[in-house]
Amino acid sequence: MCQVKECVEIISRHIKNFKPKVGLILGSGLGQFSDNIITKSSLNFTDLPGFPVAGVGGHAGKLLFGEIKGTNVVVMQGRAHYYEHGQADIMSVALQVLSAIGCKSLVLTNAAGSTVKDSSPGSVMLITDHINMTGVSPLFGADGNERFVNMVDAYDPKLSDDMRSAARANKINLHEGVYAWFSGPQFETPAEIRAVKSLGADAVGMSTVPEVILARHQGIPICALSVITNYAAGMSETDISHEQTIAFASKAADTVEKLLNTYIESQ
Ligand code: HPA
Repeated sequence: MCQVKECVEIISRHIKNFKPKVGLILGSGLGQFSDNIITKSSLNFTDLPGFPVAGVGGHAGKLLFGEIKGTNVVVMQGRAHYYEHGQADIMSVALQVLSAIGCKSLVLTNAAGSTVKDSSPGSVMLITDHINMTGVSPLFGADGNERFVNMVDAYDPKLSDDMRSAARANKINLHEGVYAWFSGPQFETPAEIRAVKSLGADAVGMSTVPEVILARHQGIPICALSVITNYAAGMSETDISHEQTIAFASKAADTVEKLLNTYIESQ
């Protein structure tokens, strides 16, 4: 049996009559958002064939089923990154499963460095578009004409408007901008940051873009947020580190919680 079908069966045996409406992928340091969910049940990624083995600190590797403000949600607490296995389609089965169990849309979150002085660590940015700096695609090896995916409006305009409304309702200053995907795991050089800034990037990170491409291929609308955890390389005196990423991601936890609660309620 294919892995997606297997996962769907495991989930429906594990939690009966549960249909999530929104899927949420929590990035580095954002796992504590899960405290906010009325969790009905959970599964470890290791119980789900084809789900990634989440190995990075700040990532729990759990699939949670629950409710936020009356809306059924499924939450991936943790994700896998291209830099872990050199496999850009590592999230493919997981995304197909979220869609197959009922999710009408997904919210992707990540931690990112800011190339813009105005977006300081602790702020949140709505991703409106991306630049793929890796030259890699999760659709390498895919066949059929569907692989030639249209990437215009990849960040769904309606869902993005819903996120803007959620920010206004909570008086949150939601930044907006373009996210540049670098493979990692090394952080960028100052020269790389100057280069992507001049290309139009407002934030940089090591995730999300492969998932956006996969979701687009699979026809799942997405909305995406970057939690700014640091100024990008060369822009500040503070050393960039994974520890800083985790620390600043949890600093933004309150903002993210308010934003996502209101957004999810509106879906
Ligand atoms: N670069 C890449 N990834 C990141 C950064 C960064 O500055 N901060 C958090 N994730």
